[in-house]
Amino acid sequence: MKVLVVGGGGREHALVWALSKSPKVNELYCAPGNGGIAQLATCVDLKATDVDGIVAWASANAMDFVVVAPDDPLALGMVDALEAAGIPAFGPRRNAAVIEASKSFSKQLMAQYHIPTAACQVFTERDAALDYVRSQPLPIVIKADGLALGKGVIIADTLAEAVEAVEDMLDGGKFGDAGRKIVIEAYMTGPEVTVLAFCDGTHLVPMPSSRDHKRALNGDQGPNTGGMGAISPAPGYTGQMAGRCMREIFLPTVAAMAAEGRPFQGVLYFGLMLTPEGPKVVEYNARFGDPECQAVLSLLDSDLLEILLACRSGTLDQVDIRWKDAASCCLVLASGGYPGAYGKGYPISGLEEAGRTATVFHAGTVQTPEGEVVTSGGRVLGVTAVAGTLEEAIDRAYQSAAGISFTNRYCRDDIGRTSPN
Ligand code: GLY
Repeated sequence: MKVLVVGGGGREHALVWALSKSPKVNELYCAPGNGGIAQLATCVDLKATDVDGIVAWASANAMDFVVVAPDDPLALGMVDALEAAGIPAFGPRRNAAVIEASKSFSKQLMAQYHIPTAACQVFTERDAALDYVRSQPLPIVIKADGLALGKGVIIADTLAEAVEAVEDMLDGGKFGDAGRKIVIEAYMTGPEVTVLAFCDGTHLVPMPSSRDHKRALNGDQGPNTGGMGAISPAPGYTGQMAGRCMREIFLPTVAAMAAEGRPFQGVLYFGLMLTPEGPKVVEYNARFGDPECQAVLSLLDSDLLEILLACRSGTLDQVDIRWKDAASCCLVLASGGYPGAYGKGYPISGLEEAGRTATVFHAGTVQTPEGEVVTSGGRVLGVTAVAGTLEEAIDRAYQSAAGISFTNRYCRDDIGRTSPN
């Protein structure tokens, strides 16, 4: 089959890496791809959000299957557009991707179907929002309704911070249209767990649990990032807890989306908090998380293409999905300054040596015409190691990453060794 993956980060490198092992894949393409993906697939110079361009290219080049990985093209309806052009595609349609693209939609869905989550109110008017904030305990969480590059969630410890967040979004246009509507919700406490699940509209198969580390600095300090590392499985997520989440959260969510006429086909991301009252949903995403995808897919022992095809055809219950009895750690090597301003174009050395003990997924890299791999983004690499125990996987990821260098290289020292909350 001729397969195109849409996207160009660490998640897409992990998807391309897993798909390249499928005997059914004859030709593999990625748009736009990156310096690491270029070693496994042919990169296509199109933006991941260029719906018309991707559909035209996939059609002209007779793609058999397109995997749409990032949130923006899903929210823009890329899967709908591909299918309308007769090209089979993996990922939720636009009316299902809204579970991530609108926080107010997902909160309303959870309220209606009794899926546990934090209490909240939705606002478009500043004065009403400020009155509500003043009546609630601190800390309090203010979320932009729409997609905001992972930056649209503010945890306000003081009333002044909460007022500033409300005003920035509703008056200041901080996140553009994404912040014209906001969700204000109660602050929850407890360990965080991510569960990614394959869905075919009716059936749902959870992958091994994982834990992301979103803050930039050690000890879960500093600004939020796209993710500085991930481990799988998440410590503390027991079989009993998995069963409870399946009954109270996962299956009700898939059933709710189907009942609303929005059957979810793709990967549903459950961002969970294990609160003292039980597991609750922090957020849904309509896609593989990144870097979670790198850690979790490293444990897959089945043909990814077969699973993705089954998600589209509604036959997930007929696929045998196996996982390694092991643990993994993805350590992100970032450009100093990220998630703020950072330099680009720095040569990277030590990749081959690191690749002997870990899989080095590329996120922000490009290959120069001379074949040199240089930095091009905030998150540069995801050094991902698999071992029998989580402790060994963490140690191996750090040891493998130690020999990789580039100017202003930065990573956290405590991935997998702290429990973000
Ligand atoms: N790692 C968080 C996300 O992918 O949204």
